[in-house]
Amino acid sequence: MNESTDLTLRALTPNENIPYSLLLLADETKEAIDTYIHQSVIYVLEHEGEMIAVCAVARISDSAMEIKNIAVREDWQNKGVGYRFLLDIIHKVQEQGCSELIIATADCGHKQLYLYQKAGFQPDRVIPDYFIQNYPEPIFENGIQLKDQVILKMIL
Ligand code: ACO
Ligand code: ACO
Repeated sequence: MNESTDLTLRALTPNENIPYSLLLLADETKEAIDTYIHQSVIYVLEHEGEMIAVCAVARISDSAMEIKNIAVREDWQNKGVGYRFLLDIIHKVQEQGCSELIIATADCGHKQLYLYQKAGFQPDRVIPDYFIQNYPEPIFENGIQLKDQVILKMIL
């Protein structure tokens, strides 16, 4: 992606529709999204007025926030948008005086694990069998069944 590609980042206002189609790229079901989305700030990235990426961030304690969902529209993936978006979100969280930022993914989410560590997150802990116990159907990614969840952390 060209560095000068014109992308606008903004937070959705409470009266705007929740962009489920984008959020569903990063989470399995609307029900799963509904467990966090109403307590989250929803940031979107727009190109010529069209939404091309979403990121939901929720406060999980006085000092910590969690990126609950980050997704880039399929035709915009692998162009560097997700990385730039993630760095901008980290900056926004920092501005809110938060000292810790968390992001979680599956143990076999190679691309996500790589991207998050490239952005400065470090693996913190593993929750065994998270994706087996919390989702009704088996989920597969890169041909591997999702089992454990990896939590990554960044001290801001
Ligand atoms: N394996 C390893 N690395 C890869 C792969 C791969 N298969 N494909 C691309 N990469 C690398 C890229 O090369 C790039 O690294 P580089 O710049 O050093 O070359 C890096 O991954 C990220 O590239 P971006 O283009 O910035 O990523 P993108 O814009 O595609 O956004 C995202 C990444 C958000 C994961 C996007 O692909 C997406 O929306 N995927 C579907 C939804 C999803 O899985 N979201 C995360 C779920 S977890 C959560 O939401 C907390
Ligand atoms: N990102 C993600 N997946 C990749 C990448 C990449 N950059 N490159 C290749 N792969 C995939 C391949 O596509 C293949 O998967 P697929 O069959 O589903 O498509 C899979 O990785 C493995 O491919 P192979 O060709 O069987 O792997 P290879 O013969 O290259 O052996 C090894 C892997 C041993 C890691 C080799 O690359 C190597 O010797 N690397 C240097 C030494 C090393 O790192 N060793 C491991 C250190 S840890 C230890 O020793 C315990």
